[in-house]
Amino acid sequence: MKLLVISMLLAVATLALAEESKYTDRYDNVNIDEILNNRRLLVAYVKCILETGRCTAEGKELKKHIKDGMQTACSKCTQWQRQGARKVVKHIRENESEYWQQMLTKYDPNGEFKSIYEPFLESDD
Ligand SMILES: *[C@@H]1O[C@H](CO)[C@@H](O)[C@H](O)[C@H]1NC(C)=O
Repeated sequence: MKLLVISMLLAVATLALAEESKYTDRYDNVNIDEILNNRRLLVAYVKCILETGRCTAEGKELKKHIKDGMQTACSKCTQWQRQGARKVVKHIRENESEYWQQMLTKYDPNGEFKSIYEPFLESDD
């Protein structure tokens, strides 16, 4: 019985640690479609990420993790963030190619993370 309690406590602690290695889900209620359908709003986020414009709290959080996210194929993303990241990146890449180039120049100037984030963008888990 004692052993069971201990192993359960361990399991909970491990789970808590795993949770902590995720990015915050505090902003997982942001309306991505609304942003993608409003170019002015989208460009404001992009400029925040490029550090050429002001950031909202959500933008700041995004900027904080974008490099790590690219380098780890979004492995610390929540499910919502994974799907959102794919949608937003594809949109920017296709519709805002100039900003996409600027983002790459800033966050992956040597193209060394392309082989990490490309498969992530093409997957659908
Ligand atoms: C590009 O923009 C159009 C019009 O807003 C949209 O329908 C389309 O889904 C966008 N492309 C991507 C890859 O999101």
